[in-house]
Amino acid sequence: MAHGRRTRNPPRPVVGIAGLGYMGLATALAFAHRRVPTVGYDIRPELRQRLRSGRSLIYEKGLLPLLRSEVRSHRFGVVDGWTELVRQATVIFLCLPSPRGPTGRIDLGPIEQGVRELGGALRGGTEFRLVVMKSTVVPGTTESIVRPLLEQVAGRDSATLGVASNPEFLAEGSMVHDALDPERIVVGVSGTREARLLRSVYRDFPSPLVVLTPTEAELVKYSSNAFLALKVTFANEISRVAERVGGDIDRVMDGVGRDSRVGPKFLSAGPGFGGSCFEKDVAALTERARELGVPVPLLGQLVPANGAQTRHAADLVREAVGGLEGTSIALLGLAFKAGTDDVRESRAVPIAEELVRAGATLRVHDPAALDNFRTIWGQREPGGPDGLVFCTTVEEALDQADAAVIQAAWPAYRRWLPRWSRLMRRPLVVDLRRALPERLRHRGDFEWVGLGVGRAGEGTQAPARGPVP
Ligand SMILES: NC(=O)c1ccc[n+]([C@@H]2O[C@H](COP(=O)([O-])OP(=O)(O)OC[C@H]3O[C@@H](n4cnc5c(N)ncnc54)[C@H](O)[C@@H]3O)[C@@H](O)[C@H]2O)c1
Repeated sequence: MAHGRRTRNPPRPVVGIAGLGYMGLATALAFAHRRVPTVGYDIRPELRQRLRSGRSLIYEKGLLPLLRSEVRSHRFGVVDGWTELVRQATVIFLCLPSPRGPTGRIDLGPIEQGVRELGGALRGGTEFRLVVMKSTVVPGTTESIVRPLLEQVAGRDSATLGVASNPEFLAEGSMVHDALDPERIVVGVSGTREARLLRSVYRDFPSPLVVLTPTEAELVKYSSNAFLALKVTFANEISRVAERVGGDIDRVMDGVGRDSRVGPKFLSAGPGFGGSCFEKDVAALTERARELGVPVPLLGQLVPANGAQTRHAADLVREAVGGLEGTSIALLGLAFKAGTDDVRESRAVPIAEELVRAGATLRVHDPAALDNFRTIWGQREPGGPDGLVFCTTVEEALDQADAAVIQAAWPAYRRWLPRWSRLMRRPLVVDLRRALPERLRHRGDFEWVGLGVGRAGEGTQAPARGPVP
């Protein structure tokens, strides 16, 4: 493969990416785009095949054009095994899954398996290689599990084999932007050689490098996700108050977030956080603290509080429709948020279950995640409620519906066309994300109910009068 344009700087080491799922692919393309020669490997042959020809198995805004251009430029290539990855790459990033295990601890199985395979490929080599843990793993994992396992299987030590941590903070929906232009890059290293190599591969990123120990870096990642989950949960709780006192949560949180001590992001109320990371990471950090005997009552409340918000969202639909038995409801937006086809921990699943259980027929639609949703819906524990109609157009979903529920704020839903209202038996939109702009909400061809928005005069409560001083 070509090694990029010549610059006055010394050539950068080739980067290897192991695991080309959501995070690994975005990371690989970001390095390639920053003119670092990058090779990737994934255990799934059909994924390798597709990526090689510039096609992706996942949808993410901006991903496809970037993939095509980096494949064309030959800065990103895909290899068929660990041996080839290790032969070409000096710095190897592990972007393997770290799913939630049964007790809330992460399941290290996929990472241990990957480390064993990598260790086998490194056996007998003499040139220095740096292995970087980019997957999210609980503090201490890189030093106390990954390093010893890798050294043992590879039969090498720190003289020719470095190990470091470099957690990833990108968010799906804005993954390409976040990977190309991270607000900060956190690396955890135990030696100067590791730090130098990481500085070198990140040289052209316009982001400050925060250099810590591996355990500190791992703790930054968990703290960061727990804090973001906390912000979302906080906005969700205040949204329930706004509904009762009569206010709009977005205007309230705009007022709150303009304080730079708070910041405006992740204060958007909704049906509860979803996605592959927040719940898993909060649970893992809470469980690790419990194992260490450290009380973390605040962290322990986040996952249950999130579940309560999802139930609240389903209740809001029930109340707006006025009973669900025998109704037909269009559920719009099945991904865990707009901008991605990822349905892992999407709130659409518990909401759909709740509505079907209450007697509704659901007609579901998503511009990108319909197939993924069909798959996870089919993989649920047996015995759950069933009976969804999968619709490939919004019109099909709205046909004769008694309400439309917006679960993910895709741009396609935001423009709510007058003819959509006419297709419905009752033109009622329950907007769990306040996706429709304010000017459309009162257009008159449909009724609009927003999560976090109190309807003036309706059920709003004035404060009790206290004693006058
Ligand atoms: N998805 C995100 O937004 C995000 C953000 C930050 C951090 N992370 C972390 O990144 C890690 C990966 O998450 P993801 O969402 O990309 O998962 P993913 O499931 O989309 O990707 C993991 C990839 O690893 C591959 N793989 C598994 N075992 C392998 C092996 N032995 N050899 C080669 N390839 C193998 C899988 O085929 C898959 O393509 C997790 O630790 C996650 O917590 C994810």
